[in-house]
Amino acid sequence: MTHKNSFSSIVSQADLERCAWRLAQHAQAGDVFALSGEVGAGKTTFSQAFIRALCGEATIVTSPTFTLVHTYMSLNGNSVWHYDLYRIEHPQHIVELALEDALCDGITLIEWPEIILDTLPAHTVHITFAFDENSEYRTIRFDGDKPWTTILPHL
Ligand SMILES: Nc1ncnc2c1ncn2[C@@H]1O[C@H](COP(=O)(O)OP(=O)(O)O)[C@@H](O)[C@H]1O
Ligand SMILES: [Mg+2]
Repeated sequence: MTHKNSFSSIVSQADLERCAWRLAQHAQAGDVFALSGEVGAGKTTFSQAFIRALCGEATIVTSPTFTLVHTYMSLNGNSVWHYDLYRIEHPQHIVELALEDALCDGITLIEWPEIILDTLPAHTVHITFAFDENSEYRTIRFDGDKPWTTILPHL
């Protein structure tokens, strides 16, 4: 995959949450964010901050590990879809999860997107989370064609 814009940054949890908040300010209906990285790397933490920024600070955001998808309504009326596809064994099983509706007019976050990567739209922003060997910091890398991808380093 080659993307027009790409950057990576080493972040504390507070930095990562700020980055998610910032990204949420630019999110529009139809945007898709594919969140990759090992268990514990920070995908849900990022999603929580992102969804709270869109839907209000008091929004309760839990991991959709077992439910596979949670939906929210943003303060300005967009539907927000938060997927965790870790437990999906075959792409066909996603049919029941209304992914097409989400991609059509929602703002969509997808943890463990690997199983459907080739069906995601070209404008998907790919965010990769990785552990730092010696600290609680994480590396987050953004790859996408959206022009605002380049402003995110200024956390
Ligand atoms: N720099 C950091 N960025 C994100 N999470 C961090 C960071 N440092 C520590 N953490 C902790 O790591 C855990 C990340 O878990 P989670 O977001 O559920 O991961 P994932 O969804 O990728 O499995 C949380 O308990 C969070 O508090
Ligand atoms: Mg998670």
